[in-house]
Amino acid sequence: MLVNMKNLLEKAQKENYAVGSFSVANMEMVLGVLKAAEELNAPAILQIAEVRLKQSPLEIIGPLMVAAAKSAKTPVAVHFDHGKTLEKISQALELGFTSVMFDGSHLPLIENIAQTNAVIEKAKAYGASVEAEIGCVGGSEDGSEDIAINCTSPDEALTFADKTGVDALAIAIGNAHGNYKEEPKLRFDILEKVAQRVSAPLVLHGGTGISEQDFVRCSKTGIRKINIATATFDSVENCVRACYNNNDIKGYYDLQAAEVQGAYENVKRHMLIFGSDNKA
Ligand code: 13P
Repeated sequence: MLVNMKNLLEKAQKENYAVGSFSVANMEMVLGVLKAAEELNAPAILQIAEVRLKQSPLEIIGPLMVAAAKSAKTPVAVHFDHGKTLEKISQALELGFTSVMFDGSHLPLIENIAQTNAVIEKAKAYGASVEAEIGCVGGSEDGSEDIAINCTSPDEALTFADKTGVDALAIAIGNAHGNYKEEPKLRFDILEKVAQRVSAPLVLHGGTGISEQDFVRCSKTGIRKINIATATFDSVENCVRACYNNNDIKGYYDLQAAEVQGAYENVKRHMLIFGSDNKA
């Protein structure tokens, strides 16, 4: 069923686990997420980032994501990731997304607060949740920009949370989008300080390449939403390649099944690590 993201994260906060937020680019990936969620009786978030709309137009994939969430047997929120423009954020809200992110991480604190508050005001009319970012997660969602990591200041995170009342707050603790060039070293000291000061559910972007132990530690230290994109895209690609190599693809629908399977395997693996199985 389609749900508000805030409700999913509140339950995760109470019961101390994280909900996976999975980026999708087509129907096959959406089906893979739903299959894993239903099999594990897990909540899930389906998301797409503004920079990916070149490949998957919002007016086409948005209704598909919302319809999929409505049809799911477990609670599923539909989230607009890294919203940059009020125009696209408004479009996502109109299409029935139950959550939007405004990414003002590149802005001075005061400006980030002001623009986030404008998005919160807009989202209120739709009953949708809002995520914002403080500090800078490295890279960019589609790898087009090499944004440097700028770890979140716990004091700024507190000011930001107080002045916005945002539903979910993405923080930077050494995490980056895409495949890491070297093993990520997460700053758990910063995460602990932010988690002590801020009561809003925290969000970890750049999930691909983070170790299982680090995921578990994050999910026990205030991280309630973990974004996974590249790992799913890679898993889909690898599954299709393996099926071709094994001569398992005899026609288009075998190819389609391999795509669903690749997404499903990656999503299921992460849901189990995040402890969100049986939390529907
Ligand atoms: P990855 O591509 O590193 O998994 O990052 C996903 C993400 O944070 C989307 O916002």
